[in-house]
Amino acid sequence: MADDVRWWQRAVIYEVCTPVFQDDSGDGLGDLPGILRRLEYLQWLGVEAIWLTPFHPSPMTDLGYDIVDHTAVAPHAGTLDDFTRLVDEAHRRKLRVILDLVPNHTSDQHPWFAESCRSKDSEKRRWYVWADPAPGGGPPNNWQSDLGGSAWVWHEASGQYYYHAFARDQPDLNWREPAVREAMFDVMRFWLDRGVDGFRVDVLWHLAKDVRLRDNPPNPDFNPSSDSPCQEILQVYSADQPDVHDIVADLRHVIDEYEDRLLIGEVYLPVSDLVRYYGTQRSEVHLPFNFQLVQAKWDAPHVRRVIDEYEASVAANEWPNWVLGNHDQPRVASRIGKAQARVAAMMLLTLRGTPTLYYGDEIGMQNTDIPREKMRDERARSCDGKGIGRDPFRAPMDWEQVAAQREDPASMLSLHRQLIALRRRSPALVTGEYRSVDTRGPVLAYVRSLGEQAFLIALNLNDLPRRLELPPDIGPGVVEISTRDPRDRRATGSTIELGADEGLVIRLERPPAARVSTMTPAR
Ligand code: NOJ
Repeated sequence: MADDVRWWQRAVIYEVCTPVFQDDSGDGLGDLPGILRRLEYLQWLGVEAIWLTPFHPSPMTDLGYDIVDHTAVAPHAGTLDDFTRLVDEAHRRKLRVILDLVPNHTSDQHPWFAESCRSKDSEKRRWYVWADPAPGGGPPNNWQSDLGGSAWVWHEASGQYYYHAFARDQPDLNWREPAVREAMFDVMRFWLDRGVDGFRVDVLWHLAKDVRLRDNPPNPDFNPSSDSPCQEILQVYSADQPDVHDIVADLRHVIDEYEDRLLIGEVYLPVSDLVRYYGTQRSEVHLPFNFQLVQAKWDAPHVRRVIDEYEASVAANEWPNWVLGNHDQPRVASRIGKAQARVAAMMLLTLRGTPTLYYGDEIGMQNTDIPREKMRDERARSCDGKGIGRDPFRAPMDWEQVAAQREDPASMLSLHRQLIALRRRSPALVTGEYRSVDTRGPVLAYVRSLGEQAFLIALNLNDLPRRLELPPDIGPGVVEISTRDPRDRRATGSTIELGADEGLVIRLERPPAARVSTMTPAR
């Protein structure tokens, strides 16, 4: 593999949902010693980076995204020494460690917020977003929280409203206050000094809000029967403000004080807005998470359009990335079914760009029924409309399934391991060009090639067998991996027979004639 390829371009990132991954202390919540014990598994699987969701002191009303102290380890998760041991052992096993950084809000139990609430004259009053009532009384504007209802809470004692983009116990920090920026940059340095390899920044596009707090406009496309109440108003002034990009560039600046670290941004925006988070004037994040596959309608023409549009939007000096699932989204095996989840895994691990794999998706975990009394997610009681929230996508990692699937060459786990291994030893699958092959049907096909190495990936997104006629410049090849049969090594010619729900990675004897570029450097 070329030397100038950065580790995060090669790596598969694995999201470890800390509270549910491995509970070694037996208190019902996952912990750092538990993760340390499972590093052997992650290394065996072949991923090269792990992203840990928050493990800081927290009332845990939002999976730990409600933080009380950004530079400590929650007692249920372990100690700072456990953290150091985890990072050292991960590095020894050639696994990079990425932390969640939650800079947009804190828990309302955070000492900063307690101080800010004290009075309008508090030295930390400007650390959060406070505002007077609207002229006629009531909340300062019509902004809605992500959980539905007004995003403003009246604070009787100090006579103003505070703003929360998410739950009411998660007040938003005010990033226009220089002391807030400096405090959060110090949080980053605290962990970077302890060897972390990067951050996934929570709700990055929310950090700046309109200074004049103007009302958001109504959503003209709102459909009350299918949309959640939170979609009734467009977030024109409460998120994705032009000056958020200065903040992101500053975050990047801190990252660049250290060698070879990574900055990922959680950004849910249309692709044309998303790619601006790579930076236009100054460098911003290395990877703005690309959730297009999570949201895509699962049919070949649609998915092809999504991939091709994204490929066309990412500039030559920017590096793409793909996400199939995370702790906020229904499990992929439940969204599209178990058979198609295998096809989707093949897609995730062969597209151009860094893949992020959600824990448990590698064993085909599905959404789990959670009895109402065990639901922890606030959203179950609010705007998702169905009253189930996100707990079903966050079930404890099923280690029994892991043990069973490790022994079975036809399992989902073995398929993932095989795909990751192939990717690791095949430069064409990492930095090779991507070329879409027009198949006009339920099969999605593309070629990945670099120099003389080339693969055709043919994915049947349908549950009926299909014959695929290939364009004349794609020559013969041999099946490397099939989602249906781990022993399949059949030779292929100008037509390919795909079984129902079958995906194939085919090693081509030679690259197709019409090649464009070879490698995309990342900045
Ligand atoms: C984004 C996280 O992914 C989500 O789980 C959380 O609820 C929100 N941030 C608010 O903290």
